[in-house]
Amino acid sequence: MLKVPFSAMTVESAFVDSLLQAMTLAEKIGQLNLATPGGETLTGSTVNTGVREKVRTGRIGSIFGIKSLEVIRTFQDDAMQSRLKIPLMFAEDVIHGQKTIFPLPLALAASWDPALWEQTARVAAIEASAMGIDQVYAPVVDVCRDPRWGRMAESPGEDTVLASRYAEAVVRGFQGADLSAPDATMACLKHFAAYGAAQAGRDYAGADMSPATFQDVYLPPFLAGIAAGAGSMMAAFNTLNGVPMHMHQGLIAGLLRGRIGFEGLVVSDYTGVNELIEHNVAADRAEAARRALAAGVDFDMVGESYLDTLEAAVTSGLVDVGLIDAACRRVLLAKVRLGLFEDPYRRMRKDPAAVVLGADFRALARRAVAETSVLLKNENGVLPLARTGTVALVGALGDDRMNLNGTWAVSGRPADVVTIRQGMEAINSVTVKVARGANLVDDADLANRLNVHDWGTLSVTIDERSPDELIAEAVATAEGSDVVVAVVGEAREYSGESSSRTDLKLSLNQRRLVAALKATGKPLVLVVMAGRTLVMPDEIEAADAVLLAWFGGTETGHGLADVLFGATSPSGRLPVTLPHTEGQLPLVYGDLPTGRPFNGAFKKFLTGYLDVPVGRSHVDGLLPFGHGLTYGRFRYGPVRIASHVAAVGQPIEASVMLSNEGEREASEVVQLYVSPPPGPVSRPRRRLADFQKVHLKPGESREVRFVVPVSALSRSNAQTLDDLARVVDHGTYGVFIGPDAWTGNGATVEVPVETASYGGGK
Ligand code: BGC
Repeated sequence: MLKVPFSAMTVESAFVDSLLQAMTLAEKIGQLNLATPGGETLTGSTVNTGVREKVRTGRIGSIFGIKSLEVIRTFQDDAMQSRLKIPLMFAEDVIHGQKTIFPLPLALAASWDPALWEQTARVAAIEASAMGIDQVYAPVVDVCRDPRWGRMAESPGEDTVLASRYAEAVVRGFQGADLSAPDATMACLKHFAAYGAAQAGRDYAGADMSPATFQDVYLPPFLAGIAAGAGSMMAAFNTLNGVPMHMHQGLIAGLLRGRIGFEGLVVSDYTGVNELIEHNVAADRAEAARRALAAGVDFDMVGESYLDTLEAAVTSGLVDVGLIDAACRRVLLAKVRLGLFEDPYRRMRKDPAAVVLGADFRALARRAVAETSVLLKNENGVLPLARTGTVALVGALGDDRMNLNGTWAVSGRPADVVTIRQGMEAINSVTVKVARGANLVDDADLANRLNVHDWGTLSVTIDERSPDELIAEAVATAEGSDVVVAVVGEAREYSGESSSRTDLKLSLNQRRLVAALKATGKPLVLVVMAGRTLVMPDEIEAADAVLLAWFGGTETGHGLADVLFGATSPSGRLPVTLPHTEGQLPLVYGDLPTGRPFNGAFKKFLTGYLDVPVGRSHVDGLLPFGHGLTYGRFRYGPVRIASHVAAVGQPIEASVMLSNEGEREASEVVQLYVSPPPGPVSRPRRRLADFQKVHLKPGESREVRFVVPVSALSRSNAQTLDDLARVVDHGTYGVFIGPDAWTGNGATVEVPVETASYGGGK
């Protein structure tokens, strides 16, 4: 049974009922209008006009995108001049931090650390609320299996269980124990639903999938976030099996509200209601508004079609006023929960400067860099680096502060970022020599597109020297140094919204740079910064060590220096499979088996590709989901199962002995996967069921125990998208415990009887 927020709010309900009675139809519709006056960082192509006047006349319920507390305060003053003095709620995209920017959400997922997710969200809420923000448009819980989609940067990756844990931890962090607390912010799960399954990774494209895939893969993170008490949800831009999510009655009104019992707010995405016209399902804004309202979308973001058309639609009998009452009720209840009727200024009473970017927040951000960095390869003990001698720091990102916050850090300032150069130079015993080596991109048109959010300093610049000159300088710098650290990857906006890519390789001159550095014979460490997985088999092959550092935010420089010079061990693990080539996409570790399985070498009439080298990477990608090395050396004992026959209703208990046989303390992410028995339908070959992050000193051993409910073995039995039916097939399951999705360390457990269940809801 899902825990439903609001259900016990009888006093608040009575208050809202009486307020609704006092409201005119126009005022009720006004509450459904969600506006942005625009500002520093635009997150859509249009903004609202006449916002102040609309607030004073009760025609706006919420505002987002204001970066200044003083301005927020004046808008609330305007709302206090309206007839009923209904407070505004203020929202913002707080995707991976407000002022203290943490690593990208995809990177945070790579920490596999629910405590870190909760702590970083808590800090984000403390900072955002001190700047007057009531609601955050996060977390993004869209499962994503295709790095061509630029919003993979915001997503928790390819796995449903990892994404679900992430969802619940972040909701807890944002909302705290009491949503009315001045430092709590309402979470908004987004984007409902299946946005991450955009066809061919092209942003805003439709998703097409079976009911079982929807229920098993894309829906559960939303259910987990709702169960954790998330107060709101955002509709997705995409169609799902042909139906635009902004008018999906079956999934919003039917499944979300009806069967699951979600009583929170549903927010449209930016002009998402109006886009029903472009989707070719509405003739005009009036029809778009009617459809979205009927589906259960409460807030109309930026488009103002509710504001402009609903009153006439009620008068002419096309819209039942009950729908407007219900939506308005949810808006007002959200404001009640946030404590805004008690004190409309409750999140405006602190001095933000005294709250944001505190030393402890920075310390958390610094630790997060180590927790999220994934060590893909480390040969010849090249890492950690000696804290003496000369390091060649090569690459356009090595001495950069404009890109390191990554995409969707709308309030984060590059000026607050610690660069990689600064982080390294803080280690006094090391000499750092810097060379640019290669531009991030060499195409001026592309650079312009990537500089979309920059007015002063540009994030993407093209050095006027030729690519050959840049490489020659880097090679000379490398030759005069003991070791090379080459920081390569994407520009900040090369991933993010509408930043889909078809070619996921490093830019040509960055690839040439890596090859030239390799040819110097110096030890070569690649630090890769990106908002998605890149395709880089040759560069991984060439380097002695590869650290996938994503974009690390405010404390990138210190955090990476900690990892590179061994103050701490990297403890990230891939939250996505690393592809060998773009042609394999979309890619996931647990796909369905074929009738002609690959057997390690290309063979005619077996599944696979003619043009991908043999080996595991041939079909499964270059490196598995869950992979990541540390400076410790972990050994797994065999999997032990408490009872090889699962008793009805009893969980499965499984354990391994884990030892750190290395010289350094480190964290291991112990992962438990299950594989299904023969059954009535084909199922994924393997699925993550649980994980634990365990820290061990050198020479230490610990028994790592898992208690897995039998429901974790269940699969959807859905016949339609909104069907929550689940079943646990009987038979013998594989239980694998190891360091990644390819582990062979397994045992079996038998489930003697099939059990059917209803997957939550009222
Ligand atoms: C994005 C949302 C975001 C909204 C408001 C849209 O373009 O899809 O994730 O919350 O803009 O900035």
